[in-house]
Amino acid sequence: MSVRLGDVAPDFTAQTTQGEIKFHEWLGDSWGVLFSHPKDFTPVCTTELGYVAKIKPEFDKRNVKVIGLSVDSVESHEKWESDIGETQGTPVNFPMIGDPDRNVSNLYDMIHPNANDTLTVRSVFVIGPDKKVKLTITYPASTGRNFDEVLRVIDSLQLTAKFKVATPANWKDGSDVIIGAAVSDDEAKTLFPGGWKTVKPYLRVLPQPK
Ligand code: BEZ
Repeated sequence: MSVRLGDVAPDFTAQTTQGEIKFHEWLGDSWGVLFSHPKDFTPVCTTELGYVAKIKPEFDKRNVKVIGLSVDSVESHEKWESDIGETQGTPVNFPMIGDPDRNVSNLYDMIHPNANDTLTVRSVFVIGPDKKVKLTITYPASTGRNFDEVLRVIDSLQLTAKFKVATPANWKDGSDVIIGAAVSDDEAKTLFPGGWKTVKPYLRVLPQPK
């Protein structure tokens, strides 16, 4: 079964490089990013894990816990981590799930047999503090992910959870936003007393609320 937006993220218990975790308990009140990579000791994955480690302070700032996964074992992850530290300049500073029995991979539909029947694809799940899935992304093995984009979407998710706004194409934190389509002009007057610009009746733009 695939995991879709709005679903409760499946809970699980797994062995990780930082000990056994119960996923929902581990998330606590934080946001979460669960991401899979195809295989340990591979080039693209090495760069991805190094980059996530480098920008972990950005996830911390946003109250987001990050956790990786592949179908390799925790022992294999631990051996590989020293290569990542050596080549990417940052030690891996987040837990990595060992999933040789594919328990978590199957729960999250991370193995796509028509792409590869033994390795996980590059999945990303962003999970809110309510444990619901807010974003899913799937990349093929040959393409490393853009984790700055994951941070950008988290900024949008956290903003739109707080205010009745939406974010336009290529939006970045601090840029103008759009009043949600379900908000009437009367409600908008109360919500956004500073006003907005009506480009079309359905396209109302205002500075990002703080
Ligand atoms: C890589 O990370 O480079 C990779 C992993 C599995 C298949 C292909 C590429």
